Amino acid sequence: MLKPQYQFRPMLASDLDAIMQIEPHIYSHPWTRGNFSDSLKSEHSAWVLEHNEKIIGYALMMMVLDEAHLLNLSITKVYQKQGLGRYLLEQMIRVAQHQKAANMFLEVRSSNISAITLYENIGFNEMAIRRGYYPAQNGREDAVLMGLAL
Ligand SMILES: CC(C)(COP(=O)(O)OP(=O)(O)OC[C@H]1O[C@@H](n2cnc3c(N)ncnc32)[C@H](O)[C@@H]1OP(=O)(O)O)[C@@H](O)C(=O)NCCC(=O)NCCS
Repeated sequence: MLKPQYQFRPMLASDLDAIMQIEPHIYSHPWTRGNFSDSLKSEHSAWVLEHNEKIIGYALMMMVLDEAHLLNLSITKVYQKQGLGRYLLEQMIRVAQHQKAANMFLEVRSSNISAITLYENIGFNEMAIRRGYYPAQNGREDAVLMGLAL
């Protein structure tokens, strides 16, 4: 899908103020600023999506040999359900393909139906359940491990 009014560009350390304004509003257990800066320092593939020069989404991915691990995929609340999550994920798939990855993997909370629906619509398959993988309000929550052949 073409989205000419949206700009997809690499994430910079100077983007973290804006990202920290989004992250706590869309996750029950958000990444900390330190998580993002560690990810940038580790040279993970980190990208933002902008609209009118404002960050409205971001995604981070770790490359291990020919595997791409999607670590974070986020669209700010008011921009959700407009196809932008799908667009951002398609851009990350393109980046991974460009880096010659053969597969993309991700973990998602078993309760995160919107994200799971998006991944399934793109073609990801459920590969395993990781029991109690995430902290949750009342104890722990399972992760669904999903994979896509690129
Ligand atoms: C998950 C997330 C990135 C999806 O972004 P989005 O822009 O709202 O999603 P899109 O509008 O691109 O929708 C993509 C697909 O997901 C499905 N979807 C989106 N929201 C949904 C919902 N609330 N319920 C069911 N399906 C939903 C749509 O059916 C759509 O399918 P289609 O492309 O075939 O029409 C976004 O909701 C988000 O940032 N959530 C908070 C952070 C998060 O949970 N990230 C994922 C961590 S693994």
